[in-house]
Amino acid sequence: MALKLSVIGTGYLGATHAACMASLGFNVIGFDTEPEKVALLSQGKVPFYEPDLEELLIAQLKSKRLTFTNKVEDLADADVHFICVGTPQIKNGNAADLIYVNSALESIAKHVKPGGLVVGKSTVPVGTATKLRNRLLELNPKADLAWNPEFLREGFAVEDTLRPNRLVVGVVNDSAEKILKEVYATNLKENTPWVRADLPTAELVKVAANSFLATKISFINAMAEVCEASGGDVTVLAKAIGYDPRIGNRFLQAGIGFGGGCLPKDIRAFMARAEELGASQAVEFLKEIDAINLRARQRIIELVRKDLSDDLVGKKVAVLGAAFKPDSDDVRDSPALDISAQIQAAGAHVTVHDPKAISNAQKRFPGLNFSQDINSTLMDSEIVLHLTEWKIYRDIDPKQVKKVVKTAIMIDGRNALDRDLWRSAGWKFRALGRTTGE
Ligand code: UGA
Repeated sequence: MALKLSVIGTGYLGATHAACMASLGFNVIGFDTEPEKVALLSQGKVPFYEPDLEELLIAQLKSKRLTFTNKVEDLADADVHFICVGTPQIKNGNAADLIYVNSALESIAKHVKPGGLVVGKSTVPVGTATKLRNRLLELNPKADLAWNPEFLREGFAVEDTLRPNRLVVGVVNDSAEKILKEVYATNLKENTPWVRADLPTAELVKVAANSFLATKISFINAMAEVCEASGGDVTVLAKAIGYDPRIGNRFLQAGIGFGGGCLPKDIRAFMARAEELGASQAVEFLKEIDAINLRARQRIIELVRKDLSDDLVGKKVAVLGAAFKPDSDDVRDSPALDISAQIQAAGAHVTVHDPKAISNAQKRFPGLNFSQDINSTLMDSEIVLHLTEWKIYRDIDPKQVKKVVKTAIMIDGRNALDRDLWRSAGWKFRALGRTTGE
């Protein structure tokens, strides 16, 4: 008999995990404390934008293998309970807020069957899993807890969940590993690498991976600063170093840097946890990674001032992109919106376009102007900032849109547009780390 699974928390991670596990043949019940989310998901509506997820959700609801509830007692039937709740940054500091993880454990503990397994997937500070396991055993001595970090990227969540590049399981007992091997039998058949670890290592793998990715992005953005100072071109530099397989060409896209609900808060939480452990020196460099990342946002604003004037009062600025990255409607710590809000606060009139993220952006920044239409966003603008590299922006015809703007100046904050094409259409074109040849 196939295992029954429960998924606690139905955000980007949980909703995707639930639908994907159902598609592999398991009976899955998704739980969330927010009744609106449960109602939407039960009707086949995903409360956020994630390519391919809605189709998968609808198909799995139809198959009857997938259901959603806001009553925790409905999960009692499951053999494995995945904790997929968020761990946001605390309000007044760098640490991760564990309130949702702790309350998930408290509420599920007594409903776990004898021999049942709780599996944490949320990103947590090292040491959390052991504490949670001890608490679980106190409340329910016949249960066990494992940690199975998740590496999915928003925008590719379904693909990354169904075909992960590795599976990492932190376990104390062989029996927990055996259950997880049953859950991931399809991936194991496809030879997905399987890494068994202890609980702290499994937790650390996740933050180490995100720290490495953040470091790679800030490294190339630091090189962009040096290119600007010396007349180099960071896109050529990235291409050239990326040919070395030890370096690799991915995550070397220079621009306005990383945002979202993961990389920024994960490196900060890692620093906070390392300090508690007396190991702060080991990750001191992450402070610089964070600083380089935030500096990229200021460098764009400097370029705007250079092209328009120091005084931005009354200037019309058009912004393409609000999401923290393309193929997502997530605006958490979005560099595009941070830049837009700062320029607006300096007195400019900023209009922001995004194909999917406007409604989320509006909630966070009600003072900005938003438009669903590219032409009206650009209308009469004195400068255009390309801040999230949606494909539709690469398809813009620079000759056509030159007719609607007041002054044809494009700043590419993502190094994703074709500079020659824009220049040949008569635009002044600038990009971070590529200020040569103007
Ligand atoms: C990230 C990790 O990539 C996932 O592996 C991880 O599972 C996830 O966090 C998580 O912890 O849950 P995600 O936040 O979806 O995934 O976004 P990324 O694709 O990593 O992009 C993060 C930011 O870096 C975006 O703002 C993106 O625009 C920026 N970025 C990315 C660059 O500025 N340059 C690059 O070359 C790549």
